[in-house]
Amino acid sequence: MACEQFAIYKCECGCTGLVEMILGCKEDCEMSCCGKAMTALPAKTAAQEGKEKHVPVIEKIDGGYRVKIGSVPHPMEPDHFIQFVELRAGKDVLVHFFAPGDAPEAVFKTDAKTVTAREYCNKHGLWRS
Ligand SMILES: [Fe+2]
Repeated sequence: MACEQFAIYKCECGCTGLVEMILGCKEDCEMSCCGKAMTALPAKTAAQEGKEKHVPVIEKIDGGYRVKIGSVPHPMEPDHFIQFVELRAGKDVLVHFFAPGDAPEAVFKTDAKTVTAREYCNKHGLWRS
């Protein structure tokens, strides 16, 4: 199975291992963690239940973009929070990491004209704009 660039893999054993494939691999390969194969996470979209608190909302601002998680702010409690949001901006990938208690939004400085965003909730997984 080829590993696609930017695919995010989660460890199946219950540890917190999460890996992003920076450069893809066309060979028959497999990501692993804790001695077990990792699963590539599909990114959920506005078509899924829970979209209001998870789908990233991108707003153009002076000098870049503000990304809010989501149209209704996501909880940022110790046991349920957004761990990171990633902005794909042209050829660049910009990442902001969160901690419980942070506001569920991030500002990215970039002059890219086309952007997409995805975020990871520790309970509800990967979501994209
Ligand atoms: Fe969530």
